[in-house]
Amino acid sequence: MSAKNFYVTTPIYYVNDKPHIGHAYTTILADVIARFHRSNNQPVFFLTGLDEHGQKVQQAAEKRGMDPQAHCDDLAPRFLQLWERLEIRYDDFIRTTEDRHQTIVQKVLQDVYDKGDIYTDEYEGWYSVSEERFITEKEKDSGEFRDVKRIKEKNYFFKMSKYQQQLIDHINANPGFIQPEHRKNEILGFLREPLNDLCISRPKARMSWGIDLPFDADYVTYVWFDALLNYVSAPGYGSDENKFQTWWPANVHLIGKDILTTHCVYWPTMLMAMGVELPTTVFAHGWWLMGESKMSKSLGNVVSPLDLIEEYGVDAVRYYLMSEMVLGQDASFTIESFIKRFNSDLANDFGNLLNRVCGLIGKYFEAKVPQPGEHTAEDRAIIDQAVALETEVTRHIDKLQIHSAIFAILDLVGKTNRYMEHEAPWKVAKEDLTRAGTILYVATESLRVAAHHLSPVMPARCGKVRGILGAADSGAAWGELKPGTELPAPEALFPRLEMPGV
Ligand code: MSP
Repeated sequence: MSAKNFYVTTPIYYVNDKPHIGHAYTTILADVIARFHRSNNQPVFFLTGLDEHGQKVQQAAEKRGMDPQAHCDDLAPRFLQLWERLEIRYDDFIRTTEDRHQTIVQKVLQDVYDKGDIYTDEYEGWYSVSEERFITEKEKDSGEFRDVKRIKEKNYFFKMSKYQQQLIDHINANPGFIQPEHRKNEILGFLREPLNDLCISRPKARMSWGIDLPFDADYVTYVWFDALLNYVSAPGYGSDENKFQTWWPANVHLIGKDILTTHCVYWPTMLMAMGVELPTTVFAHGWWLMGESKMSKSLGNVVSPLDLIEEYGVDAVRYYLMSEMVLGQDASFTIESFIKRFNSDLANDFGNLLNRVCGLIGKYFEAKVPQPGEHTAEDRAIIDQAVALETEVTRHIDKLQIHSAIFAILDLVGKTNRYMEHEAPWKVAKEDLTRAGTILYVATESLRVAAHHLSPVMPARCGKVRGILGAADSGAAWGELKPGTELPAPEALFPRLEMPGV
């Protein structure tokens, strides 16, 4: 991780329903990554927000018999409240109906239009109402699109095809631009066919909920041309050059695999037309499935993040989502795996180590952290692993492999539990209190280092663990735990969960 500024984004969510576990996942992921970077003293800008225009939102508002703006204003707080409950520390929250965003969208449209990269044309083609875009003959024949209509109308087009080769060259020259690798190949495959220009307008007669085209008042802007620009409007593009230079290009846009084409074809070609540098990485994660099936309202299996927090607490939810999904692949959500993971990693390993050290220090050292003496080879193995953890965690986070970072941290905790069993300080204390003190210092300090590294994933409970150890603001270095610190009586921070129905 370099000391350079770090800018991370989530997709901006459609305000058509309450947030679900998929939205919560990407936002927690961005938060965890942001916190890891902040803990390395890197300046971070973490942006999230809401996508409030377009047909989906207009239809959702109509269904509720509400004006679209009133509908958005009504639903936006649900997202904000959820982010608060999930301990999401974003730096900016953008709504695409805000003036600061609308002004920039119009400015970009005008600039690209003046440059000659937007033209008008009578177009007849297949239009997917659910996808809100014209689709190709091939896409129509694939049968993957619902609500397909033949539409003929005048529209404005962005010359996306003009940038096709430049985009292919960029992807080839920057292997980290689209991640994971198989998604990059998917986009390169897509780009083997000639790229169509992008229809970026919607006649108001058909769909009026959007940003007016600055050069034709009968049209609004296509929702994706509007939404993608949030990534630059928020950090000051066209309004605060200094701020923009500080943060752009974004280090990583986190997205779900379903919005790969918009982020890896529309967005980079738009930036090329604007003459703006491309983001460093677009990372597409997989989907959370409910067991084996897709999460969907019609199947009635959508998991509410608020219900989960209510039942198990925010840190348990964050921990599960971050450790269970291998970034880039789909993951299966089940309550059984949730409880299993909590019990094995947090109750049996992490929580158990905390209880043991606090209990034994209470019993043999009047609850004061003992002074360590000479180190044995066994002690050194733990110390070396704890010290090496910083580099290892950083390496995984840089590759966005959060589950591997967690695995490495939990490995130290597991080794420390085994070290305790092997060294048995409760036996040693009867003959050699200095040695018992050394063992307990090493185990407690290892726990503190683990809690430090795990804090971005579980800020509240790791904060509590570090607080209990009198080391709330301590870092990754070995030896920050102060001998003499008084520890409170052990408290079950991670009590075992029962399987429902057992
Ligand atoms: N508004 C657009 C994004 C515009 S970004 C400039 C959008 N919004 S969305 O609300 O429909 O979806 C937002 C994100 O949620 C997508 O990245 C999508 O992949 C993700 N998820 C929706 N369901 C999901 C799961 N079941 N699992 C994981 N993520 C999923 O698309």
